[in-house]
Amino acid sequence: MAKKVGILVGSLRKASYSKAVAEALATQFPSDYETTFIKIGTLPFFNQDLEENHYEPGEWQEFRMQVRQCDAFVFVTPEYNRSVPAVLKNAIDVGSRPRGQNVWDGKPALVVSVTPGATGAFGANHALRQSLVFLNMPTVQQPEAYIGSVTKYIDPDGKITNPGELKYFHLLADALVKYVKMLN
Ligand code: FNR
Repeated sequence: MAKKVGILVGSLRKASYSKAVAEALATQFPSDYETTFIKIGTLPFFNQDLEENHYEPGEWQEFRMQVRQCDAFVFVTPEYNRSVPAVLKNAIDVGSRPRGQNVWDGKPALVVSVTPGATGAFGANHALRQSLVFLNMPTVQQPEAYIGSVTKYIDPDGKITNPGELKYFHLLADALVKYVKMLN
């Protein structure tokens, strides 16, 4: 059966560079891997009161079910104020609860940070990694994926087709596939 890779993008912007990276990266997995974009933009904010009173929103349950169905994850994130955008952190938090039922547990991940700036969104990349350590997600360490000056690679139609970038995305996809194989 095909392995399933869930892709989460930390930007809701229509013309998001992170989304362009995620879409190009998704094309680089082997044919026995299925990629699926998991939407996080309409997930209600996590609120522990709802959890404790058993009034959890249906969107949380649906999201956790989608995560459970995946074998691995790609997080493609911009950097907001040197950290992870709230929308992505919220999705991670929703998946981590209720306590003891962390749906991310043990599943491998690839973190890709994206910015039009020069720093490669290093801050967001490592803030995200910090959460993934606690959530027990073995995370690809090499090759590193700090994508700076991303606009250089974006075509006029908003896509990425630059052969050099696609080759690099292929290496990233391969690295995640290796983790999946190692853990199964
Ligand atoms: C940014 N941006 C930004 N860039 C960066 O390299 N480091 C940062 O800390 C920040 N901080 C930041 C905060 C907020 C609230 C916004 C809206 C933006 C700029 C950011 O990289 C740029 O807007 C990207 O285009 C966002 O990614 P997407 O939406 O293109 O994927």
